[in-house]
Amino acid sequence: MLKPCRIAVLVSGGGTNLQALIDAGRRDELGGGELALVVASRPDAYALQRAAGAGIPTAVLPRKDYPGSAAYTHALTQLLREREIGLVVLAGFMHILTEEIVSAYPNAILNVHPALIPSFCGAGAYGLHVHEMALAYGVKVTGATVHFVTEEPDGGPVVLQKAVEVLPEDTPELLQRRVMEQAEWKLLPRAVALFCQGRLRVEGRKVTIDGGDDR
Ligand code: GAR
Repeated sequence: MLKPCRIAVLVSGGGTNLQALIDAGRRDELGGGELALVVASRPDAYALQRAAGAGIPTAVLPRKDYPGSAAYTHALTQLLREREIGLVVLAGFMHILTEEIVSAYPNAILNVHPALIPSFCGAGAYGLHVHEMALAYGVKVTGATVHFVTEEPDGGPVVLQKAVEVLPEDTPELLQRRVMEQAEWKLLPRAVALFCQGRLRVEGRKVTIDGGDDR
């Protein structure tokens, strides 16, 4: 049985967004959600150490051990079901997943993206590249988005967004850090809490929050 408040966080790297979830959990700010599993797509992901430090069970499912996205998604979906996960959070998870996981978890997979979708998103737009794209375009404002995952990369219904100013002296690294601090690390725990409280309603592309966003 899937339990809505058992959360799996999927990671590939440093895991600062995972850390934001861990910290929110310690403050009892995840809407009753429990960080039940961290799955890493590579064994050297530093996020695994953060999870271990917080006493969260971990699993490593190396992407390179699987011939393609479909086989990888199948193994991942099985693992999540076995662990009775009800909410899947992609937090710096750098691989595209196929339809199987979306069918298994309809409107129950959240992704954090470091731009204001639909800008600077889709296949190839991940991590530092997103901020390089924003600086190259010359936008004055960027930000972060938390959205539900569908089969279209970065194309699912938007849950929360927050704008962040771009400054003249920004490098991709400086901008990445500011977007994380001002937007991602706040939005992701808030979206998880709203989900666990059963307050997110999805109709077509539109997500409404029962009772409004009371942050
Ligand atoms: C974050 O900025 C996250 O939004 C981004 O990768 C970074 C991971 O950092 N994700 C994507 O670009 C997905 N399209 P973290 O490992 O420190 O959380």
